[in-house]
Formats: sequence, C-alpha cells, structure tokens
Amino acid sequence: MKNICVIGTGYVGLPTAACFADLGNRVVTVDIDEAKIAKLKQGQMPIYEPGLEELVERNVKAGRLFFTTSYEEGLQDAEFVFICVGTPSAVDGEADLKYVRAAAQTIAQTMTKPLIIVNKSTVPVGTGDWTAEIISKSQPTPIDFAVVSCPEFLREGSAIADFMQPDRTVLGSVNRQAAEAVAELYAPLKAPLVITDIRTAEMIKYASNAFLATKISFINEISIICERLGADVIEVARGMGFDKRIGDKFLQAGVGYGGSCFPKDVKALANMALTHGMHPQLLNAVMEINDFQRKQIVLKVRDMLGGSLEDKVIGVLGLAFKENTDDVRESPALTVVRSLLNQGAQVKAYDPMAMETASRELKGMILCESPYDVAEGIDALVILTPWNEFKQLNLARIRAAMRTPILVDGRNLYDPEAMRAAGFVYRGVGRGFHGEGKLPNGG
Ligand code: UGA
Repeated sequence: MKNICVIGTGYVGLPTAACFADLGNRVVTVDIDEAKIAKLKQGQMPIYEPGLEELVERNVKAGRLFFTTSYEEGLQDAEFVFICVGTPSAVDGEADLKYVRAAAQTIAQTMTKPLIIVNKSTVPVGTGDWTAEIISKSQPTPIDFAVVSCPEFLREGSAIADFMQPDRTVLGSVNRQAAEAVAELYAPLKAPLVITDIRTAEMIKYASNAFLATKISFINEISIICERLGADVIEVARGMGFDKRIGDKFLQAGVGYGGSCFPKDVKALANMALTHGMHPQLLNAVMEINDFQRKQIVLKVRDMLGGSLEDKVIGVLGLAFKENTDDVRESPALTVVRSLLNQGAQVKAYDPMAMETASRELKGMILCESPYDVAEGIDALVILTPWNEFKQLNLARIRAAMRTPILVDGRNLYDPEAMRAAGFVYRGVGRGFHGEGKLPNGG
C-alpha cells in the first residue's frame, strides 16, 4: 500500500484515483472545485463513466479513497502526487498550462516532505522540466522532489478497463529511481514498461494520439474515394485490418474524431512544430480532413433534401463525441447541429447521456425523450454518435413517424441494403458499392 494524492477529478483524475485505490493504495483526491467535491462526498459522480460510480463507492467504503478541496489534507501523507488537471487549447492551438502551473505552485507551497510529482496531463514537450523549475522556485524552503512524466492512454467510456489493462506504461524522468518507484505502483497491471527521459515520454503521448487521429483521417479520406468509385469502406477497412502491420482498430470512417484529446493534441503538436520552424504537413492534412468530414454530413443531408435546409426539420441521434460518455467537447455532432441550425433547419435531438452537457454548449435544439420522439414529423434523420441503443431501433416505427424517410448514417451503424428494403432513402459514409454514388457536388 502506498499513499497517493491525485489532483483533479475529471475524466482522467477520477478513474486514476479510483483505480489506484482499488489496487489497495490509500488515495486522497483533491479538486479546488467545491461543488464537485461536495457531490463526490455524497457519492454522486461529476462525470459519466461506465463502472466508475460502483468503483468509487466500493473504495470509499473500504476506507481507501478520500475527497477534499485541501492540498494540505491531500499531501499530508502522500509519497506520490499525480497531476491530472485539464490542459485546454489556447486561441492559437498551443496547450494552455495555467492549471498545471497552479497545481505545481500549490504543491510546492504545501509539501512538507520529499515527494514524487507525477504528471499525467497531456503537456507540451519540455513541460516536465518547466514544472520542476516552478516547484523549485515556489518552495518556501527546499525539500527533495522528483518530477516524472506518466502519460495517460485511457479512453473516455472505457477508462476503468483501459487503466486496469493498459497496452503499456510510459515513464519519463531524469531521476531513474523516482521513475522506478512509480513503476512499482503500476506493477500489478503487468503491462510492458518504457522508462525514458521526460521529453521523450511527453512526445510519446502526442505522437500516439496524432497517429490514431491520422488513422481516422486516413480512413475518412479513403471513404470519400470509396463513395466516388463505388467501393465499400467497411469492407476495405476489414480487408486492411487483417494485416498485422496495419491492425483493425481505429479504421471506422464516420463524422471525424472529436473529444477533449485528439483535436487539441493534433493542433498542439502542429503548433510545437510550427513554433520550432517546421511545417507539419501531415498533421495539417489530418485536421483538414477531419473538418471536412463534419461538413460532408451536412452537405449530404442538404443534397438529399433537394439543396436547401431552410424550414426543414432534421432529427439528430447522438450529441456526445462518442458512445458511453456525456462529454460533448469538440463533438462532431455539435458542429453538425450548429451548421444545420445556421442554414435555417429546425433540429430535434436525442442522446442517452449528453443532452444536459450539449444544451449548455448549444441553444436552439429541441431535445426529445427518445429516438421515436425525434422521428415524429421530421424531414431527415442523422445518426452522429454510435450508441448501442441506436443499433437496434424499431425501424418501421421510426419510418412511419417521419415526414420523409431520409436517413444519413454518420457512423455506418446500418446495412445500406437492409435500410433500403425497410423503405429508407439511406446514405452512410463511404459506402459507394451500395449505390450511394456521387458526392453532393457531382462527380
Ligand atoms: C483518446 C485516446 O484513444 C486515448 O488513448 C487517450 O488517452 C485519450 O484520447 C487522451 O489523450 O486522453 P478518447 O478521446 O477518450 O481517447 O476517445 P477515442 O475512443 O480515442 O475516440 C476519439 C474520437 O475518434 C471519437 O470522436 C471517436 O468517435 C473517433 N473515432 C475513433 C473514429 O471516428 N473512428 C475510429 O475508428 C475510432
């Protein structure tokens, strides 16, 4: 058992704290947001993440997991402190480090004994060294510390499983002993370990996210070519995926990637390259294709409705950036809804988890109770998030409720032939083989 303090109760901090506690450690979780901590103390989760509530409850009951707004309390017995605060994009795409800076300063001013400070937030290459400088400068009296970079690779919606069964653990530090001490914390997970210098560890995180985003933009570009040339992107991806050098993951064409990580991290990496005098050609293309993919959906709907969205009623299924989360940050669905509204359409929307978060970001949609409510009287239906509950809809009921049976499936959840047989005018993404044919602008 080790004593661990986790700073931040977001999508990374809270699963990290709960999982470390579940591995038998004593974990004190600190957040400066009083409302969040008050909620957590009552057993309410500030975010939706499958399995998290049960895990938190179990570990609180077992006396291994605690919540507080006080750094003093958090650091009192801590041997390790994990910084898991947000690093949003600043206006120019650079990562904004104000929360990391504030956490580092407060740790420095509060610590009373030697401490290993582990950074989990995704930060520009060089931030580890900068954090060490801030801590040295902010300590009232010098106390030993080491900074270790330990990038997090968990995904929202499967955070607990990803934490417990990671593909690898990456640790970077100038202090090998400190990195090895952190490795001990991860030892029960039995994942391959990479111990390296701090800048390389920081770069591994950006390069991994940028590579995954590139895979998605790659298959999205292929999907557009498939549509034009009469091939089916799903079969193309399947055929490619059996090649072990390619792999079958992250080859689902759709509305493009969203969320709090890929868009921000690809932009930040491109920005790091730019500010060091390089031209990030591939990263720029990845971002451009991703933007185009969102526009493409709106163009398809407009095209199928005869060229105008004015006064049309469009139904939207899915607002979250992906399934199993309430997170709408950089959600492709919100970009699509915004564009539909801007072009004069009325939008009726439903999401199993993200209606509240979405309505905070975007006004003007009519929020519905179910997919069947959405379908009532609409001119077209658009699927934007691949929630399981959208995969087995009562299609006859949906079609009967719609004014015109136009369906644009932005996540390729349905089989084009079956949808046509069910009476829909259907288009997916990149499924030219099924006669979806031309792009809206001809070709
Ligand atoms: C991503 C990475 O997968 C994690 O490894 C990483 O830790 C995390 O970012 C982070 O940096 O914190 P996440 O953003 O939670 O995780 O979600 P993903 O499952 O990676 O999906 C990202 C986006 O890509 C979603 O919008 C998803 O719908 C989209 N996507 C994913 C596709 O369009 N096609 C695919 O084949 C896969």
